[in-house]
Amino acid sequence: MALIRLHQVAKTYSRGAHTITALRDIDLEVEKGEFLSIMGPSGSGKSSLMHILGCLDTPSQGRFYLEGVDVSSLDRDALAQIRNEKIGFVFQQFYLLPRLSALENVEMPLLYTRLAASWRPVRARQALAQVGLAGREEHLPSELSGGEQQRVAIARALINNPVLLLADEPTGNLDTATGLEIMALFQHLNQEQGLTIILVTHDPDIAAFTSRLVMLRDGLMISDRPNPAAQVKLARS
Ligand SMILES: Nc1ncnc2c1ncn2[C@@H]1O[C@H](COP(=O)(O)OP(=O)(O)OP(=O)(O)O)[C@@H](O)[C@H]1O
Ligand SMILES: [Mg+2]
Repeated sequence: MALIRLHQVAKTYSRGAHTITALRDIDLEVEKGEFLSIMGPSGSGKSSLMHILGCLDTPSQGRFYLEGVDVSSLDRDALAQIRNEKIGFVFQQFYLLPRLSALENVEMPLLYTRLAASWRPVRARQALAQVGLAGREEHLPSELSGGEQQRVAIARALINNPVLLLADEPTGNLDTATGLEIMALFQHLNQEQGLTIILVTHDPDIAAFTSRLVMLRDGLMISDRPNPAAQVKLARS
């Protein structure tokens, strides 16, 4: 069973009298353990697709199955529960709370789970170590570099052991070298821990790290191909 299956998904937004078609005829299957990038010009529907995959929004037409469950018709509460349990999000902006330490930022999603309070910092420390930030637990976001802040955001996204990590332009606010470090981290999480990762990028050098490339244009999927060269990149780093 595929982790993700989109069948004839369409997304339209209405703005007053206008209807905007952001996605149409999208068929996509993603297996557990894949590392995939979505590329395409501005306005091609990349974020709209990520919002559906992340259960932040539902398709206007078609079906979305996550682990075999049809989530396209679930209500807001059911979607929120799936998001909390199964999906981690990373964005271009890091969205860290400025007055909280790295550790406290990473702990935040655990407040909505049943994990005992005494275990939260233990688990958050593990997640920070996973992204190479052991020793930085007490730093405020303002005391960390951009790349380190994005690592904190990645640790926060990983804290509930999601089956799917979604990243919309995760390197968009970083310089080239730092962006490549973040990609090496994603590649490591994918290869070593089998984490399924889907990311959006404008940058072919970033997409080169992923083993599958999907292209959107005007809301249509215009190509979907494997990228065997991604394996070579890991071997070199
Ligand atoms: N909430 C919304 N309401 C109305 N129209 C929207 C909404 N979100 C997106 N759109 C429209 O849907 C289309 C696709 O937008 P989307 O944000 O998915 O593109 P994108 O590929 O992520 O672009 P970018 O690279 O600029 O982030 C665009 O025409 C956009 O204006
Ligand atoms: Mg976008």
